[in-house]
Amino acid sequence: MKLTPQQSLLQWYKKNGRHDLPWRRTDDPYPIYLSEIMLQQTQVKTVLERFYFPFLQKFPTLDDIARADVDDVLKMWEGLGYYTRARNLHAAARFCNGELPTTARELISLPGIGRSTAHAIAAFAYKEPLPIMDANVKRILHRYFALEAHDERKLWEYAYTLFDPSHPFEYNQAMMDVGSSVCLRKNPQCLLCPFEQSCQGKSTPLHYPTPKTKKTKPIRYRNIIVYQKEKHYALIQRQTRFLSGLWGFHESEKQPDFQIKSLGEITQSYSHFTLEAHVYLCEEDIEDEGVEWFNLEEIKTLSLSRADHKVIEKIVQDQKMSHH
Ligand code: ADE
Repeated sequence: MKLTPQQSLLQWYKKNGRHDLPWRRTDDPYPIYLSEIMLQQTQVKTVLERFYFPFLQKFPTLDDIARADVDDVLKMWEGLGYYTRARNLHAAARFCNGELPTTARELISLPGIGRSTAHAIAAFAYKEPLPIMDANVKRILHRYFALEAHDERKLWEYAYTLFDPSHPFEYNQAMMDVGSSVCLRKNPQCLLCPFEQSCQGKSTPLHYPTPKTKKTKPIRYRNIIVYQKEKHYALIQRQTRFLSGLWGFHESEKQPDFQIKSLGEITQSYSHFTLEAHVYLCEEDIEDEGVEWFNLEEIKTLSLSRADHKVIEKIVQDQKMSHH
């Protein structure tokens, strides 16, 4: 008997799906929401091994986030990147008084929840019949319907065409698994694919979508000046959009014009640029508003970017050198 593409996908999922992922073994919307936000820009492996469980231990309910200080939420997000996600999580928790709404329509009005995330939470927690649209699903749809052009609005139409509204949970989870294990970007495993019969792009999968020409990442050169007074260091809590809310050392585009000690170089790659910074240690006073002074123990309790952690390593190395 010939299966429909949806039946074939469902069968594939029963056999090959990642059924043990913890956020798939619950219908509590909060951990599902948390996982979706973490997984937006971070791999499953990293989320699973380092962030998901400690975060839930610290904040077992959305109400715990709503009652917490945003700095404590940021601290649990430290190292995960894209910190706006943590700020939005906190804002959303307060906005809905610690209780998530029960429809995609309402979910989408919360900060940090876009259409696909709203659909994911509603489909997984409430079994609302809505398709999702992450990078993996996009690639499957482009190939399945042999679409070359990048067109987000059209893609949503196709998403509904292939969708199986009688199994919203399984369909969406299965699409993500096919995307991450079969319909791979560089070497798609078409012979193993549940859509092997019906896929329109299977003879030339790499044509869909038309590959975007990659821009080379710009390098941002900066000077980081670590101001030190006795055992205390000057830190500033960022008010900027980038790394908002995280503490960091003084950064400047200009080379310091006074004689100070060099601690070496650090580099850090971000999504849109690479940071290359020369780090200096300065024992003069800093003329900057919003500076606070902390010793190394106190700094451990703040949330810092990875780049600033690398600066701390430089400071610690330097102290060891001077003791010898
Ligand atoms: N990425 C986003 N949501 C996911 C989920 N529910 N399972 C696996 N990967 C995901």
